[in-house]
Amino acid sequence: MLRVSLLLCFLLTIESVSSSTDNFCRDDFPPAPAFVFGASSSAYQVEGAAAEDGRTPSIMDTCAHAGHFHGATGDVACDTYHKYKEDVQLMADTGLEAYRFSISWSRLIPNGKGPVNPKGLQYYNNLIDQLISHGIQPHVTLHHSDLPQALDDEYGGWVSRKIVKDFTAYADVCFKNFGDRVLHWTTMNEPNVFVLGGYDTGFLPPQRCSIPFGLNCSRGNSSTEPYLATHNILLSHASAARLYKKNYQDKQRGFIGINLFAFWFFPRTKTIEDELATQRGFDFYIGWYLNPLVFGDYPDVMKKNAGSRIPFFTRLESQSVKGSFDFIGFNYYLAVYAEDNSISLKNTNRDYIADSAMKRIGLQNDTTFEFPITPWGLQRLLEYVKQNYGNPPIYIHENGQRTRRNSSLEDWPRVKYLDGHIQALLEAVRNGSNVRGYFVWSFLDSLELLDGYESSYGLYYIDLDDPDLRRQPKLSAHWYSQFLKRKNVISLDGFIKSLSHDRVQ
Ligand SMILES: *[C@@H]1O[C@H](CO)[C@@H](O)[C@H](O)[C@H]1NC(C)=O
Ligand SMILES: *[C@@H]1O[C@H](CO)[C@@H](O)[C@H](O)[C@H]1NC(C)=O
Ligand SMILES: *[C@@H]1O[C@H](CO)[C@@H](O)[C@H](O)[C@H]1NC(C)=O
Ligand SMILES: *[C@@H]1O[C@H](CO)[C@@H](O)[C@H](O)[C@H]1NC(C)=O
Ligand SMILES: *[C@@H]1O[C@H](CO)[C@@H](O)[C@H](O)[C@H]1NC(C)=O
Repeated sequence: MLRVSLLLCFLLTIESVSSSTDNFCRDDFPPAPAFVFGASSSAYQVEGAAAEDGRTPSIMDTCAHAGHFHGATGDVACDTYHKYKEDVQLMADTGLEAYRFSISWSRLIPNGKGPVNPKGLQYYNNLIDQLISHGIQPHVTLHHSDLPQALDDEYGGWVSRKIVKDFTAYADVCFKNFGDRVLHWTTMNEPNVFVLGGYDTGFLPPQRCSIPFGLNCSRGNSSTEPYLATHNILLSHASAARLYKKNYQDKQRGFIGINLFAFWFFPRTKTIEDELATQRGFDFYIGWYLNPLVFGDYPDVMKKNAGSRIPFFTRLESQSVKGSFDFIGFNYYLAVYAEDNSISLKNTNRDYIADSAMKRIGLQNDTTFEFPITPWGLQRLLEYVKQNYGNPPIYIHENGQRTRRNSSLEDWPRVKYLDGHIQALLEAVRNGSNVRGYFVWSFLDSLELLDGYESSYGLYYIDLDDPDLRRQPKLSAHWYSQFLKRKNVISLDGFIKSLSHDRVQ
């Protein structure tokens, strides 16, 4: 499977990795479908065919075409719209048990509401059928940053209560048409960072913000809109989830949940101030959504610091949001420092970030392009959710290592990253965490938010200058494949041994 010419290079770097003490394999986890291993994607980041077969623009198209992803757009991306058959074959060859993708709302329902686009329906039916026929579970996200531009133009998208009705109608179309085969529905992808980039700092779609918090928006209000958008997102999620549970779940026997982005925060210093800032970090990032979903209201510290700017849950709203999920998805990449910034509370004019009164100190070493490898953060996150939120069923929907797009196919940093995180996941599962699956971000090198095509997370590399956009396996694809297929073989050690073995042959 591996090309021998590459092997010689791999072997030179093996020495430094083989000291790893991991000893786990696929069979240490529950078998599929109780626990699934897969890979992730999202519509705008991979589909391409942006203006084909009736699709209309989303806020992602608008932002990309305004140059915000380093000039890159998803007009072609990985062209999975046309290449889905060969991609599903590649997933099957890799050994994926599940595939997470999102539906482009404006492909299925151009302009966000009204009639269904038959070509859009056909595409997703084809993709789902292809996955099922290869024994791969489809896990479908309904909103992954790509609100139809028409709804943003008409009433401001998520800042308007009108979105609840339109989102629910869209979800209904999906449940009705795909729910006989799709058993795992995620309403929203990481809305907790979507609203920060989109409504506070303004550097992500739909680019709403106000001075001095975001500098270049033509509209928006950073003090209020992140909270308002979140409120409407929670109500939209709850409305769609209630609809699913009422009209579809008995018959279709599927599950519905929501996804959140999660850092693991740890205090910058041992001071009580930084300890408290760390707790605010969890409350502001995770509790913002999980508290309403599990307990029916926002965390106290958020209500205190945001005051009248954070919407109030009526009793009916609270009841509708509370418990409206079968699982929670997390996108986990790394652990970051939290540092107290209580001085920000002295300003009367505040945004969400000032309200949190904490500084999130990014990467431990900003000079390296790759993420620091902090799998213990994943383990602690799962323990935190287990202890504070009643141990709900969880999927790790995204986890992966960032490298430069054109760096080597021998992506040892990604192999080490994935190996470390899956091992930490196993520790958490063994200690009682209710995890049901794990998805690598991403299956293919995709259009990345902010980075455009300059960074990559894929198991498969795509040379954008290649007219065929051929998918080329990285070392991480071989590693993951071996982990998934040779189920009882010890992960990293087994892989290294197999490399040596192949070379001897
Ligand atoms: C802000 O917008 C102006 C006008 O569109 C543009 O020239 C400038 O580069 C933008 N600045 C940033 C930081 O994006
Ligand atoms: C944002 O909304 C708040 C509350 O309505 C208001 O006091 C403030 O002036 C608004 N800011 C901007 C920039 O419009
Ligand atoms: C950050 O990473 C660079 C490149 O690997 C290294 O030279 C530097 O010493 C690191 N700095 C810190 C503070 O760890
Ligand atoms: C990436 O590498 C390929 C060849 O492997 C080359 O054709 C392409 O121009 C490179 N792209 C960038 C952005 O450097
Ligand atoms: C394992 O679970 C127990 C009981 O919930 C908890 O007290 C302990 O801290 C957990 N251990 C780790 C390493 O998370």
